[in-house]
Amino acid sequence: MGRGRSVARGNARINVKTQTFLDLFSGCGGFTLGMIRSGLRCVAAIDVDPVAIATLRANLVDQHHLGLLPVAHALERDLRYFRPDQLAALIGTGHVDIVVGGPPCQGFSTARKMDGANSGVRFMQDSRRHLYRQFLKYVDYFQPRVFVMENVLGFRSAAGGKYLTRVQHEARILGRAAGRPGYRVHGQVEDAWELGVPQKRRRQLIIGVRADLPGYFVPILKPAPRARPRTPLGAAIGELPIVRAGNGQNERDYDLRRRAKYLRRQGKNASNYLFQILEVKRAKKLTNHVARSHSKRDLRDFARLKEGETSAVAMRDRGVKFEFPYDKSSFKDRYTRQSRSAPCSTIVAHLSKDGLMFIHPTQNRSFTPREAARIQSFPDWFRFPISRTRAFRLIGNAVPPLVGEAVGHAVNSALERIQLNSTNIKLDLAPLPKDEKEAVHWLLPLLDLESHALRRIRDETFKRAWYSIAFLFAGLHPDSALDHGKRRAYDVKNHMPLNRIEPRLVKPYYKQSGWPVILARLAKEAWRRYESGALKNREFYCSDAQLSGMRYRGIGQSIKRTGKVAAGNRNGRSQLSPEQEPRNHRAG
Ligand SMILES: C[S@@+](CC[C@H](N)C(=O)[O-])C[C@H]1O[C@@H](n2cnc3c(N)ncnc32)[C@H](O)[C@@H]1O
Repeated sequence: MGRGRSVARGNARINVKTQTFLDLFSGCGGFTLGMIRSGLRCVAAIDVDPVAIATLRANLVDQHHLGLLPVAHALERDLRYFRPDQLAALIGTGHVDIVVGGPPCQGFSTARKMDGANSGVRFMQDSRRHLYRQFLKYVDYFQPRVFVMENVLGFRSAAGGKYLTRVQHEARILGRAAGRPGYRVHGQVEDAWELGVPQKRRRQLIIGVRADLPGYFVPILKPAPRARPRTPLGAAIGELPIVRAGNGQNERDYDLRRRAKYLRRQGKNASNYLFQILEVKRAKKLTNHVARSHSKRDLRDFARLKEGETSAVAMRDRGVKFEFPYDKSSFKDRYTRQSRSAPCSTIVAHLSKDGLMFIHPTQNRSFTPREAARIQSFPDWFRFPISRTRAFRLIGNAVPPLVGEAVGHAVNSALERIQLNSTNIKLDLAPLPKDEKEAVHWLLPLLDLESHALRRIRDETFKRAWYSIAFLFAGLHPDSALDHGKRRAYDVKNHMPLNRIEPRLVKPYYKQSGWPVILARLAKEAWRRYESGALKNREFYCSDAQLSGMRYRGIGQSIKRTGKVAAGNRNGRSQLSPEQEPRNHRAG
């Protein structure tokens, strides 16, 4: 664990230790692999599926020669019954820096909307929807500095947004009743296509930074340095040997002549994807390139489709008559031939049932597991020594490693910023409030202004008010301020001074974002100014004001002072709702 590296900051270099992470509901390790590639060390990956764990082990535990840090423990366990303290005993530590994971998403799939299952009694009873609680249980025990939970987009709208609200609310107040700090939480949607994955795939991330730590996780994911955004499907699969439906080999040599010819014809994107992402040179053999067989009728229907066309479009635009026996109006999109020059449709676990939505652009068959794995950005050395059906399921369920890598880099930068903020912050943004009274004083005149009046407020006055919010509400994230959800809450028990000076600053608040309702207009105006450039990045994500407020209340005591802000009231007690106020806690 003592390993580390040093990074340049101005003229100085700071030492950054290799951060550790846990991957819960790890599947075969798509997320794990991406995080490791960004320089993080996996202390344990856990999943209930023996096939998933065996695959993860074969690739990420036993493969030391690839120069990646191996996963220390790959555990086949049911997370409903395997307790965090048991894990701590097994891995020999009760602390990790990061927890990531994708609690199963089938319960929220947008496809299920069609049968009405994303609402109502059946929805609430689906036990898979509550597995996020197991994730939070581990977060509460290990108190990582950052957690990242991944889920399908259906998670946002499920039960009218109830689940998104619940997860964010429960994470924000996690352990607060027992004196732990909880998490500064925000949600963001990640777009795999922009991160270099040749696929339309958007997923919901929920990210938490432990609320006693200064600094914000800035929610823009950048592609991993090796990746090129918007890589088309052709770059991933174009050079693979041709196979016919029902044919192929589980292990064979690459067709190097075909590859050379292909590379001569294609641009840089193709060779970058092949060598940097798929790392074909590191794979000794081509594996899992076996196509499933299809009925003669399906093959005739496939042949009726042009590249990039769905059966619906073929029927509408070209009057094509298909033989498939399903109701033509409700199964219009039943068949899709993918296009080499566009992103592929989302690779899903359903590929294990049939491949009709994933017909090869130029060959008359559906994708092989190797093609699906490549489209998910798994390198070619990552093998699936299991049945084709199971391989499709693991591949479709996985976080694309390139997305995991982008998340890993973002987490690394957030942790570096936290470390810098904790040790070396300048506190040079002015003016910052010196105490809570002053913060409230600067805020009050703006509270009741309508949007048009807020627009006219001078920059200096507005900034003072915006910094005051960060000073008072260190546990909130600016990015949550545009995504409040619908529910309001009033459950504030304490009646400390802030409540007495201006009760509306304490309640009601939005249950999902944690933001006091009265501040919503102001936050919207801050966003407008940020997007127009009037508020700079450092001013919008004002960690100086946040840190200053935390020091004032004595939160994160290990943080050293180097700036000029007044000491404030070290005995300051919590004046906010349990939603908004981080508690003091050992610094990570
Ligand atoms: C969406 S997949 C996660 C994929 C993974 N993040 C990846 O990148 O490969 C969800 C996983 O949760 C696992 N799972 C479901 N219920 C579980 C439980 N009770 N305990 C542990 N794992 C569980 C499933 O086996 C499945 O592999």
